[in-house]
Amino acid sequence: MKRVMAFYDTSIGKKLVVAVTGLVMYGFIIGHMLGNLKAFGGATALDQYAEMLREIGASFLGNTTFLWIARVVLIGAVIAHVVTIIQLSARNRASRPRRAIRRRNASTLAATWMAISGTLILVFIVIHLAQFTFGWIDIHASGTEGYEYGAVYSNIWGAFNVWWVALFYVAMMAMVCMHVYHGAWSMCQTLGLDAPSRNKAIRGGAAAVAVLLFIGFCSVPLAMLTNAIGPPPDDVEAAEAMQPTGQESVVVAEGEAGWSN
Ligand code: HEM
Repeated sequence: MKRVMAFYDTSIGKKLVVAVTGLVMYGFIIGHMLGNLKAFGGATALDQYAEMLREIGASFLGNTTFLWIARVVLIGAVIAHVVTIIQLSARNRASRPRRAIRRRNASTLAATWMAISGTLILVFIVIHLAQFTFGWIDIHASGTEGYEYGAVYSNIWGAFNVWWVALFYVAMMAMVCMHVYHGAWSMCQTLGLDAPSRNKAIRGGAAAVAVLLFIGFCSVPLAMLTNAIGPPPDDVEAAEAMQPTGQESVVVAEGEAGWSN
């Protein structure tokens, strides 16, 4: 343990922790974006996918245990990432000569951008969990269902049919993806993967992943806002039930058939 802490105390040890925890978050974010695309398969596909995640390993660990292990790893990675970055920048500041001329070069601007965007992303994650995981923030368009645990498609449908919620997500995704682009590039440098002959390809790869993440994440709120994908079955039933008398029987029949988007 002493050796581990001694290594963590070195600058390279701290940079390695930042890179490895960044890698864990990188994996999560790619997986999350791919999972969100299930929305294009309809409400049942997305809700069943979310249910499946909760039930991984349920037979020997009990329901949601695996999910909680993943959550603890993710929360640990976020905390270690942030704390270590704060320590590294404090160390960098301390090692700078007191009267050093403050020059705004590309790397200090990038570091400032990473600090600001990283802080805003943490705020976004708190809002995001309060909205879609816990349902404490329940903003949804009129005529749509409010938050319900497990009804993932319906929850995001109601929220993204409020134009400013959808645009807020698009703006946040732009920031997340720019942060991820720069972070992926720095991570490659820290892990020693960079070399003049490879740098163009690494930067290009990091940019391509960031752009794909942006498109993938934004596609869901924008498709819901523009009705390119349909409402969840409950909203369809409610809308049909509002129609003049004589049509209610149709509602029941279609409700039983379910939404076949
Ligand atoms: C348009 C983009 C996004 C959408 C539509 C979305 C949607 C969702 C939904 C519906 C949930 C709750 C799932 C459930 O209850 O089963 C969730 C959870 C979560 N999201 Fe997102 N998300 C988006 C982007 C992001 C981004 C960019 C991040 C990270 C920076 C993120 C981090 C999380 C986390 C940490 C959870 C909690 C996972 C858990 O503990 O179960 N999300 N998201």
